[in-house]
Amino acid sequence: MPERSRTLLSVVGARPNFLKLAPLAWQLAGRDDVRHVIVHTGQHYDPGMSDTFFTGLRIPTPDCSLEVGSGSHAAQTAAVMQRFEPVCLDVRPDMVVVYGDVNSTLAATLVATKLGIPVAHVEAGLRSRDRSMPEEINRVLTDAVADVLFAPSPDAVDNLLAEGVAAERIRLVGNIMIDSVVRVLDDAKRFDAPARYGVAPGDYVVVTLHRPANVDDPDTLRELLAALTAVGAERPVLFSVHPRTRERMRAAGLRVPARLRLLDPLPYVEMLSLVAGAGLVLTDSGGLQEETSYLGVPCLTVRPNTERPITITAGTNRLVAARREPILEGVRAAFASLRDAPRPIELWDGRTAERIISVLCPSEQPVGV
Ligand code: UD1
Repeated sequence: MPERSRTLLSVVGARPNFLKLAPLAWQLAGRDDVRHVIVHTGQHYDPGMSDTFFTGLRIPTPDCSLEVGSGSHAAQTAAVMQRFEPVCLDVRPDMVVVYGDVNSTLAATLVATKLGIPVAHVEAGLRSRDRSMPEEINRVLTDAVADVLFAPSPDAVDNLLAEGVAAERIRLVGNIMIDSVVRVLDDAKRFDAPARYGVAPGDYVVVTLHRPANVDDPDTLRELLAALTAVGAERPVLFSVHPRTRERMRAAGLRVPARLRLLDPLPYVEMLSLVAGAGLVLTDSGGLQEETSYLGVPCLTVRPNTERPITITAGTNRLVAARREPILEGVRAAFASLRDAPRPIELWDGRTAERIISVLCPSEQPVGV
């Protein structure tokens, strides 16, 4: 390694973070002038929520695991801060890179900025303007103190400028999740999940639900399961169940009708294969709103708002209330209408990691592996 190598330290903790880290890790693996240290906070720890993604996406094993596990927001955020600080002091990175909007993102940002270490935020500037979402608090606070803000879309740039962020701190680089989609899509198509699950391409619905607003209140969760049951009477429904949701269903004593197929969290290639072949995705995930827009698969997002409005204006996304009738109507409408070819979204092209690295580690040498 050259004498003047630069150290980037990436902090990840939860499943969507891993999909955003992967493209940067692939690029940096080909650079001998950059040391890339990966810290896993342990916010997500089940093998199916974590290890599967590192192996499946060929992300290097984390250099350090903080093993914070689950807890209240305060307990989880504080645990990451306490355990990350000594790591930062030991590694002394030139830059800490954080991803998305989970508790680990904010915790690592606070630690690094207070130690005087510059922070780069990948996926900056997204705003739902809904402060009841824990992620919105994480987004606003992270962007307030991070030094380099990598925005996925022009609306994110506008949000940051409107908050008074200096233009020099903002870089419009595109959506790094799409880098992972582009890289894995051929493998996903070869995997042919629809055939493995015995469903016809274009004919089935893929469901994910895990937001506190949808799953923590038993009445809302009961209503959503009733909606899915009604959908399941018309189409095959494959429901990939987040551990939080499974726990809430158990605690509320909710029984799931046999016609809904409940799946454990899936490895990325398998999930992407199912989503790419779906007639519709019904979700409250942020990433799926983006992936479906890229793939041209209709998406119904069970939320009153989204921090990703470009998936509505330029993609395939629609918001729907967490009630049986609007969901059933939305599903029927999606299957009744002709599907458009996917429309490309500016800079959602699989090259976002390259653009980020050209900012963080400018180099004469060719980038990539
Ligand atoms: C977190 C993120 C959310 C993101 C989601 C993706 C925050 C505030 N929320 O939500 O933005 O969309 O990850 O999945 O950071 N659990 C397990 N095993 C695990 C992880 C969690 O069983 O590996 C269960 C535990 O009961 C835990 C609960 O899920 O209490 C919630 O986990 P947590 O990380 O607090 O939030 P998520 O709902 O996963």
